[in-house]
Amino acid sequence: AMIGKGEYRHFMQKEIFEQPAVIGDSLHSFLDPLSGTVQLPDLGIDFSAISRITISACGTAYFAGLIAKYWFEQIARQPVEVDIASEFRYREAPMPESGLGLFVSQSGETIDTLEALRYAKRCGQTILSLVNVPESAIARESDAVLQTLAGPEIGVASTKAFTTQLTVLACLALATARARGSIDAAREAALSQALLEVPARVAEVLNHDTTIRMIAADMMEARDVLYLGRGSLYPIALEGALKLKEISYIHAEGYAAGEMKHGPIALIDEDVPIVVCAPAGPLFEKTAANVQEVIARGGKVILISDAEGIARAGDEAAHVIELPPVDPFVAPLLYTLPMQLLAYHTAVLKGTDVDQPRNLAKAVTVE
Ligand code: G6P
Repeated sequence: AMIGKGEYRHFMQKEIFEQPAVIGDSLHSFLDPLSGTVQLPDLGIDFSAISRITISACGTAYFAGLIAKYWFEQIARQPVEVDIASEFRYREAPMPESGLGLFVSQSGETIDTLEALRYAKRCGQTILSLVNVPESAIARESDAVLQTLAGPEIGVASTKAFTTQLTVLACLALATARARGSIDAAREAALSQALLEVPARVAEVLNHDTTIRMIAADMMEARDVLYLGRGSLYPIALEGALKLKEISYIHAEGYAAGEMKHGPIALIDEDVPIVVCAPAGPLFEKTAANVQEVIARGGKVILISDAEGIARAGDEAAHVIELPPVDPFVAPLLYTLPMQLLAYHTAVLKGTDVDQPRNLAKAVTVE
């Protein structure tokens, strides 16, 4: 069937605004709102006995894997390695006994991810894939498959595929935590509840569309943009920078906030906007100190935080975007939305081909 843009100007915009619905669909296929607990289908995998999970993916799907590492480690106490598929496939990495290879791909056809999968298989790993297209090469060659219910993604720059990948990976982390006995029932219920509220919170974040378009009017003049985050929001900074590069052609870099002083701080002047993802929480003061360093050097900070974070550090920021307060577990899902909208509006203002950016392909199936 032909897929239309409906009331939207671009597929990317439509796909951004579909996220409350498709995150909900992907979530409810693994987390029943009535029981409030994650139930995976029978994958034939004993999640209590995995020595190590090795995640491999490309592009935006790789960033989903990076975030999953924080979740598996913190909640499930599960050792995880993550690598870019094009590196992993040639590195001849030794793989442990009882290891699980986890491959994340929207299309299920990315050649480097498929070859990484084949390498892991030769090394005796159990192969689990997370795809949006179940009739794909990666799904076919896996022992078990989980599916995101994002629906067809037309925009070359991935949006809803990413947030639905995060949704399913969060469910998988919870299921793994339960299997490994590393989470108690009360905490599991609290995290499940936080996940169940994500679609409604994501819809709230989308209400900032107009504010973000105004910020984009500033951003479109920039030659370089820096994105900072800590913990599970560090990969969101990477994704924010990637989105901006892909569709607006502005040079952008994502950095771990604590690493800024080891290099990128040298770039900062009044012409470099710095997008900071920093919800209130245990790491907030650390990031706030990084924000101070940036402001002291004349940097223009776009602070994305919650009411508490903005009250503590918002005064000197050039712009703030206030997101609802949520459990830190689900923060990456919410903080992705301003990244997508900033890139989208900047690209539209610059007049680029948002859905078909130059030189990029939706799926890279040849090397
Ligand atoms: C291409 C797309 C990206 C995507 C990456 C991985 O570069 O432009 O949006 O993240 O491939 O694709 P996959 O289908 O494996 O998720």
